[in-house]
Amino acid sequence: MYKNTFIQNKIVILVNIEERTLTSSQINKLAGSPTAEFFSLAKKREAEGYDIIHLEIGQPDFQPMKPVLEETIKAIQEGKTTYTVSPGLMELRESISRAYEEDYGLKIDPQNEIRITSGAKLGILASFYTTIDRNEQLMVCEPAWVSYPDMARIAGAKYISIPMKEDFSLDQDFIQSNLSADKASTLLVNNPNNPSGHVLTSKEVQFIKEMIEDYNLTIISDEIYNDYIYIESPFNTLLTELDNWRENLIVVNGFAKTYSMTGYRLGWTISSSDVGRGILKFIQASTSCPTNFCQWAGINALQNRLQARKIINDIFPERRQIIFDEIANTSGLSVGSIDGAFYAFIKYSFTDKPSEEVAKDILINANVCVIPGKAFGKSAEGFLRITFSRSIEEIKEAFNRIRTYIEKCT
Ligand SMILES: Cc1ncc(COP(=O)(O)O)c(C=O)c1O
Repeated sequence: MYKNTFIQNKIVILVNIEERTLTSSQINKLAGSPTAEFFSLAKKREAEGYDIIHLEIGQPDFQPMKPVLEETIKAIQEGKTTYTVSPGLMELRESISRAYEEDYGLKIDPQNEIRITSGAKLGILASFYTTIDRNEQLMVCEPAWVSYPDMARIAGAKYISIPMKEDFSLDQDFIQSNLSADKASTLLVNNPNNPSGHVLTSKEVQFIKEMIEDYNLTIISDEIYNDYIYIESPFNTLLTELDNWRENLIVVNGFAKTYSMTGYRLGWTISSSDVGRGILKFIQASTSCPTNFCQWAGINALQNRLQARKIINDIFPERRQIIFDEIANTSGLSVGSIDGAFYAFIKYSFTDKPSEEVAKDILINANVCVIPGKAFGKSAEGFLRITFSRSIEEIKEAFNRIRTYIEKCT
């Protein structure tokens, strides 16, 4: 149906109103979050009276540390509720700089090289938007965190999904075959990886160095899980490994996982000053600044970071071992190594059904919510992700239920 929209100088402009939608073509291209979709399915079942065990949500189950909570309240009472400067409070940037110096011996300029963002997520998006020109390629290894493809779409980057290798390591041949000296490229690494738990080896780091040297590759390193590493690891941040190539590196991290401050929406980027200037413009155009009192809480969290790491080390290695034991006791499920983060990326062989169907079946028949492997990339089909950021009792009960379900279908 065509409609005259307006008449001006006797020129009639016809608009096909049936083709118009209320939403833009760019938003229509976004896929949305499968994690959120499963979470809301589980919530719906809960509202119907089912007792659901949530193994889908990627958030730690411990409370933020007491001094952090007290600092949050104090900051609110002291009126730290206004905007702050856009790069984030200088006091917080200095605390981050000090932490990297004390922990890793690194010198980072808080004025130009650190930006505080509203969650690591905004830091990643800002990094994409700042450094990748429209349609330049962004390479990401599968399995990859569910949000990356949509973030790449927002930034206008050409997302190249690298199919998964069995041991979840970087597919060096694939990466190299996509690089050429006259084409700017970015490789996103998520170390440790959500969902596989893979931690980069020194051989992989060596490969990254060579690719930077040969192709001027940009590296965006999402290190949000870097305090959850269960193996003797030679490094916690790529900054120590790529100190000579700092112009090619952007590190993103945040307070959500180490300090269980997911709702504070607080993160940071470390980059060259040039990139820092770009990220600043992104912040000014989007959020203006992160929440004032949350930034004060962040300073306190960093002061107590050894305590936070102790909380993690007291809880998570034991749960990880229980996950290995439970999977070993369940026929039709297997898992490789879990070197970091707090997820098990489980391969299933008890059915040929696609992972989305299996995850829905497990939710309906076993009342356990898990995420289908497909959400992390096409090549991650045949897997399920569970989190072990839940109590040991919940994990054990979830596996009892899953075992009963598997026995019924085999
Ligand atoms: C790999 C990865 N990066 C970034 C984030 C987001 O962190 P934030 O909550 O600080 O935005 C998550 C959250 O689940 C994640 O899994």
